[in-house]
Amino acid sequence: MPEMKNETHFAQFNFPEAPNITTPPPGPKAKALLERQEQVDSQVLTYPHMIPLAPDDGLGATVKDVDGNCFIDLSGGVGVLNVGHSHPAVVEAIKAQCDRAVHMLDFPGEARVKLSEKVLEVIPPGLRGEAKVFLCGPTGSDAVEAGVKLAKMHSGKPGVISFEGGWHGVTGTGLAATGKRGVRDACLPVMPEVSIIPYAYCYRCRFGLTYPSCDLQCAKFLEHVVRDPDTPATNPGCLLIEPIQGEGGIVVPPDGYLQEVRRICDEYGLILIMDEIQTGFGRTGAMFASELWDITPDILLASKTMGGGLPLAAVIMKKELDTWAPGSHVGTFRGNLLSCVSGLASIEAVEEDGLAQRSQELGAKGLERLRAIAESSPYIGEVRGKGLFMGMEFVKDKESKEPAPDILQQVVATCFQKGCMVWKSGRWNNVGRMMPALVITEELLMKGIDIFEQEVQALG
Ligand SMILES: Cc1ncc(COP(=O)(O)O)c(C=O)c1O
Repeated sequence: MPEMKNETHFAQFNFPEAPNITTPPPGPKAKALLERQEQVDSQVLTYPHMIPLAPDDGLGATVKDVDGNCFIDLSGGVGVLNVGHSHPAVVEAIKAQCDRAVHMLDFPGEARVKLSEKVLEVIPPGLRGEAKVFLCGPTGSDAVEAGVKLAKMHSGKPGVISFEGGWHGVTGTGLAATGKRGVRDACLPVMPEVSIIPYAYCYRCRFGLTYPSCDLQCAKFLEHVVRDPDTPATNPGCLLIEPIQGEGGIVVPPDGYLQEVRRICDEYGLILIMDEIQTGFGRTGAMFASELWDITPDILLASKTMGGGLPLAAVIMKKELDTWAPGSHVGTFRGNLLSCVSGLASIEAVEEDGLAQRSQELGAKGLERLRAIAESSPYIGEVRGKGLFMGMEFVKDKESKEPAPDILQQVVATCFQKGCMVWKSGRWNNVGRMMPALVITEELLMKGIDIFEQEVQALG
C-alpha cells in the first residue's frame, strides 16, 4: 500500500489561484482563437460549442485560458487525465524518450515491454498472471475493434451483445455496439449481428421496476436473449459492456448486476469484454471498476488515461484467448514509444500517489455534497457515481423525470463563466458529469462544487 499523501503534496500539481476569472470568458484572445478555429476546423467539433474555452496552459485539475483566466477543470479530459495536465513525472518521461526514439513498431524496446509488464501488474486480481496485452492503439475505438475481433475469431461466432446507453467509440464495431442512437443511425448500415439490450439503468428502468424488488429483471432479460433461440440475437459469442456507463450518464449498475452478467457469460459460453476505457486506472475508486464488484473479465479494454495524456490503447486478454495468428490484427501506431513512457509514468503515479483510494475518498465527499444539492433542487433527479466519477441527472421535474438538457447546458455555461468546467453526458445530454484529475485537492473540488451549487440554486 502506498503511503497516503496529504493535501500539500497534491497542491503542487494544480495552479493555486484557481478559480480566477479576470476577463469574462471568452476574452478577446479566446474570441479571436475561437473565430480562427471556426474558419479552419470542421463544424463537426463539439466541445467549443459547449463552452468557449481557448486553453493555454494546464496543471493537474486546473487550466488557464489565453486571456489569463484560471479554471477548475472537473472534466479531466473526459477520462484522459487521471494524473492531471502535465504531471511532472509524465512530462519528464516524454522529454527523455524524445531524445531516443519515438516509434519502433512492435519491436521490444525497453519502454514498450516495461509498459506491458506494468499493465499486467495492475489489472484486476483474477487476471494477474493469467493475461497478456496487445497494445493496439492509439484510441479507445481501436481497442474496441481489436477486442471484439479477437472474441469473434476465438469463438467463431458473429454475434455481439451490447447495451442501451453504452458508448464504445466511432469506428465500425464501436459504432455498431454503441447504444446512443444519434451517431449510429446517421450512418446506417453498421456492422450487423449486434444486439443492443437494456442496461441496468435503475433511475429509468426499462421494465418499470425498482431495485432490489426487481430481482434484477435486466439480467434476466439478458439470460432470455442468450438462451432463447428465437430472440433477435444472432449466435452471440461475446458481450461488450461498461462496468459503469460514462457517456451514457454515469450509470452505476446495482450490486449483483455485473455478477449476474458474469454468471450468464460463463453459463452460456460468452466472452465477457469489459470496456474500462473511461473507468480504468483509479477513476472509480479502484484501479479498474470491475474490481468494485469482484468481476474478472475475459477481455479488458483500456485507453484514455492509460497514455497519461498521449494516445494509447490496449486489449488485455486471458491467455487462453490469445489464439489469433500473428498479423491477424495490425495497425501502424500500435504502442508508440512516447505514449508507452508517458503511460508507464502515469500508471506509476496512480500507484505511488494512491490515486484510486484518493478517488474513493474524495468521491464520497463530493457525492455527499452533490446529493444535498439535488435534494434542494427541483431539477436534479438523481446523483450517481463511484469515486471521482460523478453524475447529476437533470430533469424538468422530479415526477415526470423528463430530461432537461437545456437546463444542464445553462448550468454548464454559467459555471464556466465563474471558473469551473463541468461536463455533460447522458442519453439526452442531460447528465452533468464531474470527473476531475485525481490529483485535485479537496479544496479545489469543493470550490468547484460551490460554483455548481450556486448556479443550480440560481435556477430557482
Ligand atoms: C467506454 C468507452 N469506450 C470507448 C470509447 C472510444 O474511445 P475513443 O474516443 O478514444 O475512440 C470511449 C470514449 O469516450 C468510451 O468512453
